[in-house]
Parts: sequence; C-alpha cells; structure tokens
Amino acid sequence: IEEMYFLDHGYMFPTETHCAASLKFAQEFAFQDDDVVAVTYPKSGTVWMQEILPLVLNGGDLTPIQTIPNWDRVPWLEEKRLAVVVDQLTSPRALVTHLPYHLMPPSFLKSKAKVINVLRNPKDVMVSSYYFHQMAAFLEDPGTFDEFMEKFLTGKVMFGKWTDHVKSWRHTALGDRIMYITYEDMVQDLPAALRRISDFLGCNLNDETIQKIAEHCSLKSMKANNMSNFSLVPKQYMDATKSPFLRKGVPGDWKNHFTSEQLARFTSVIRKEMEGESFSLPWS
Ligand code: PPS
Repeated sequence: IEEMYFLDHGYMFPTETHCAASLKFAQEFAFQDDDVVAVTYPKSGTVWMQEILPLVLNGGDLTPIQTIPNWDRVPWLEEKRLAVVVDQLTSPRALVTHLPYHLMPPSFLKSKAKVINVLRNPKDVMVSSYYFHQMAAFLEDPGTFDEFMEKFLTGKVMFGKWTDHVKSWRHTALGDRIMYITYEDMVQDLPAALRRISDFLGCNLNDETIQKIAEHCSLKSMKANNMSNFSLVPKQYMDATKSPFLRKGVPGDWKNHFTSEQLARFTSVIRKEMEGESFSLPWS
C-alpha cells in the first residue's frame, strides 16, 4: 500500500497517476478566465463531464470526443498527464479535478474560471468505487464490502472523505463562478442538465444541439466510444473483465449492496459529519 499511494497535505494520491511533480505542476498551472473545471469526488461523474464539456463548449462538434481520449481532452489538473498535453489544449479549455477547494492553485482563485461541481449519492459513489478498486490494478484491493465501507467513511481512500470534499466546495469565495449539479439529475433528465450547463457557461446552444449532445454522451454512446470507454488502457492497469469502468451508470445500485446494518452505520456517520451545515443534499 505504501507504494500504491503517497500522502500530500494529508490526502492519499495514487502513485501510478500522480506524483509530487504533478501536484507542483497543478499548483503552478496558469488558469485562464475562460477555463472550465468540473470538480468531482471520485466516481461522481468525472468521465461523463469529460464527454459533456467539449461538446457543450464547441457547439456540439464531435471531433474532440471522437479523436482524443477523455484523459487528454479534459485532463485531470493534478495528474501526471496534464504536463504532457497542456500545450495541446485549445481555449476554452476544460479540466477536471478531484482536489479539495483549499488545494486549488493561486491562479485559479485569481481567475474567472468557472466550476461545475457534480455530486452523487455517497452510497452509490462508494459502490462504484468498490468496483473500481477491484478492476484498477493501481488501487488497493478493496477487501470485503464491509472493510471498504470503513475505509470510505474514515477517508482512508484516495482524496479523503466524501463529506470533507463536499463541504470544501460549499464554502468557497467563488460566488456565481460555481454551479452545483447532481449525477442523479443528469441521469433523470440529461437535456435539462445540459441546458443548465450550457447556460451557466454562456454557450447559447439551441434545443437541437442540446438533443444531439445528449445522444452522444449517453452511457450507451460512451460505452461504444473507444476514446471514452477506457478500452485503450492496457488490461494490466484496468481489467474490464473484473468490472468495466463504465459499469451500470444508474442511481440506487447501493440498494443491491448495503445490508440494513451497513445502511444504518453509513447514514449515521454521514449525517453526523454534515451536522450544522447550512446546505442540504438530496440524499438521506
Ligand atoms: S473517476 O474514476 O473518478 O473518474 O470516475 P467517475 O467518472 O467520476 O465515475 C464513474 C461512474 O460514472 C458513471 N458514468 C455514467 N453514468 C451514466 N451516464 C453516463 N453517460 C456515464 N458516464 C459515466 C460510471 O458508469 C460510473 O458509475 P457506476 O455506478 O460504477 O456505473
């Protein structure tokens, strides 16, 4: 485990994809005013946003999603890969990040870059993460569902506790630069979600374009897109025979995994950590 992760600012980062230099690169990254960042806790809709943002920002042009792997077209701010592709990004640039707000670079705070924070039911986040830890060779084996739940609830997973991440991005000085959306809303009515995103980014897309984008970023279309379905990743890193990256893509899969005892424990820990918060979330 020591070799699989390293600690920085108290957060666990996977060594395969992150290093001290990549975190430094992120700190020194020069944000531009027209940049867009999708902020997610892992397994909350990151890869979906890597499909959505290029389509919305380019008026539905399919070229980026058909020719560039998702990790290069909308790179992670904190990952090693950014340094390799940064010069190929064209404005308006889109990025994703799992970083908490307080680890965002100074240039981000000074810029007018917009943020879309996608949130997902933490129970489904945990289930998705459990399967991801089974298929990704560079992450610790999750053990039993019970064991993984304890790690998840105590933040002994990459990027720490879900509750800390959520709180971090609620208490910002970003004003109307940040928009919140849920994974569940996106599943329920993708065109409406795309309309919100498009309006927030000032893209003025017509209904026809929104409809076209919705078709191309459906789970089905993404599963069929080799630039988005992780089939380009060698099996030694991600083994889709254990579990595909684009797995079920539905809200509520937690019901197939949690015992009533696990549900009670999970709910009480999350509630306790959210006590006194001024915002409310749609889950429990
Ligand atoms: S990561 O590793 O943090 O980048 O993972 P992330 O992309 O945030 O989350 C992966 C989950 O998102 C689901 N997903 C989708 N659901 C519905 N529609 C679309 N288009 C879509 N794209 C990705 C993906 O299936 C993972 O959830 P689970 O529950 O495991 O299926």
